[in-house]
Amino acid sequence: MLYPVPPVMVTCRDENGNDNVMTAAWAGTICSDPVMVSVSIRKERYSHDIIERTGEFVINLTTEQTAWAADYVGVRSGRDEDKFQAAHLHKSLSQNVKCSGIEESPVSLECRVEQVLRLGTHDMFIGRVLSTDVDPRYLDENGKFDLDRAGLVAYSHGEYWTLGRLLGTFGYSVRKRPQSKTAHRAKIAGGADASDRPAASGKRTADKRAAVPGAGKMADGAACPTTTGRRTANKAAFRSHKPEHKQDRKDSGRRTVDKAARKKRSRKEKGYGKHI
Ligand SMILES: Cc1cc2nc3c(=O)[nH]c(=O)nc-3n(C[C@H](O)[C@H](O)[C@H](O)COP(=O)(O)O)c2cc1C
Repeated sequence: MLYPVPPVMVTCRDENGNDNVMTAAWAGTICSDPVMVSVSIRKERYSHDIIERTGEFVINLTTEQTAWAADYVGVRSGRDEDKFQAAHLHKSLSQNVKCSGIEESPVSLECRVEQVLRLGTHDMFIGRVLSTDVDPRYLDENGKFDLDRAGLVAYSHGEYWTLGRLLGTFGYSVRKRPQSKTAHRAKIAGGADASDRPAASGKRTADKRAAVPGAGKMADGAACPTTTGRRTANKAAFRSHKPEHKQDRKDSGRRTVDKAARKKRSRKEKGYGKHI
């Protein structure tokens, strides 16, 4: 499957005013204008019926601070308990839909269902984004969303991760950087031109980020409030977290059926993969 993905928390409200929240990893941006997002939900979910009936939901981004809550609301059902209360989440008022957002989320997208695609195990709810509620604490001085401070979380193969090292910004592969005199001399002398390579490390300041052309663009180049990546995990830390079966893997060749089976067993032992 495609990983990593954002493990968002989807909120909805039934006709009696009861709010519910569930986690969804099968969610994404699917259109820039009008802004549309999708979330694929199994028919068995309590939230599925509510969203189907009311035609409304809110997508709330998950951060390091709310990762525990995101996991919790992804393994318990609103049929049995008030998950807002159980996960210590607070409700925020929405502008254009009846259901609440999550106060602790830095970004909440208020959505109205435009279409439902019956795909099989999951129904895909395509939602038009009616408003984007951003916690002003995470906007930088230029009004751009500051990922560094929001601490967004990615979900990959059953694991929750903070975002890693910044590799570049939109279009960096084709962008020319101004040459310094030293780099120019090195080039003439046949040396490597460091100025053509993207900066590899070091935490960006807000000023530098603002100066980067292309920052704050969506994948298709449209303007969006998000900016750049967060650096936390380093390679050593990643290696020490690697499951054993991955460390065992030989460098060459594709995986054999045995290895796939071993991975499946190991994932089963860890209880991964049953929830979505
Ligand atoms: C990380 C994570 C991602 C999940 N992604 C989805 C998803 O994309 N679609 C889905 O139907 N269920 C997904 N689930 C499972 C639901 O969140 C879970 O079944 C939840 O209990 C449903 O709540 P509800 O019955 O109150 O609606 C996910 C769970 C976790 C922990």
